[in-house]
Amino acid sequence: MLTTSRTEAAKTRTPDNVTIKPQRMGFEFGEQNPRYWLDNSYILSHTMNALSVLFPQGEQFFVDSVRYFRDQITDPKMKEEVRGFIGQEAMHSLEHIAMNQHVRDQGMPVEELEKQLSVILGIAKKLPKRHQLAITCGLEHLTAMMADMLLERNDIREDMHESMRTIWVWHAIEETEHKAVTYDVFQQVGGTYAERTFYLAFSTAMLGVVASAFTAQMMLKDPKQFSLKDTAKGLWRMWGKNGAFSSLIPTWLEYFKPGFHPWDHDNSELIERFKAQISDKIAPQFKSGNRRTLQ
Ligand SMILES: [Fe+2]
Ligand SMILES: [Fe+2]
Repeated sequence: MLTTSRTEAAKTRTPDNVTIKPQRMGFEFGEQNPRYWLDNSYILSHTMNALSVLFPQGEQFFVDSVRYFRDQITDPKMKEEVRGFIGQEAMHSLEHIAMNQHVRDQGMPVEELEKQLSVILGIAKKLPKRHQLAITCGLEHLTAMMADMLLERNDIREDMHESMRTIWVWHAIEETEHKAVTYDVFQQVGGTYAERTFYLAFSTAMLGVVASAFTAQMMLKDPKQFSLKDTAKGLWRMWGKNGAFSSLIPTWLEYFKPGFHPWDHDNSELIERFKAQISDKIAPQFKSGNRRTLQ
């Protein structure tokens, strides 16, 4: 049995020690943020900046795809988790908009890339609603994998300039907290194995093409720093032995197991550990906890 019946209320499998609540951070960007903030590398920094440009619109797409099915959710815990998911993604968008403005101020073609992204997402929005939700599930699997890698791998976090590290750690914590929400909603509304696996492959290919194209456009706007050595080293760190992305292939493949669930890999202990590490980075106005719930 690969799908959950619509009449049977699916339960969430989020561990009891995980609560999905948005935390606004109030990051500010400026002169303290170096241009090449990841391993002092031109290609790696532009790659991560390109990912950041994808977030505000991408996360809005995620939220819209879940919101459409909201009234089909009957389980109170799942309803609560959906509320938390929407709030968290909305906060991620706000903080990454601030980061993207900073990247734009550095002369990067952020507005142009945003226009291109809106055309791509406009095409995705023409798909049936459940297929859009399957895309969201696929992309949430990718973000959960990257979040886990970032929190597990000291070498990668240490290569980030400290002025940029916290936004990525904070985002990774919240992506871990809500990693199963869209998946559970998809199961609840009758999503099939064929849909979710097809759209994982589809969304991975799309993300690969779009992120590479955006990175290339950033690099073309900043040609003086180009060096073959930096590019080769950066590509090796992403895709070589034990590379940031190549090391994720086994986890990516797990999604194809018929009974897969995001919490099969319980990494919830990372959440509290890293929340403690970034708590002093919350802007004073958000210290008391931003518990604003976005609907
Ligand atoms: Fe997010
Ligand atoms: Fe997410």
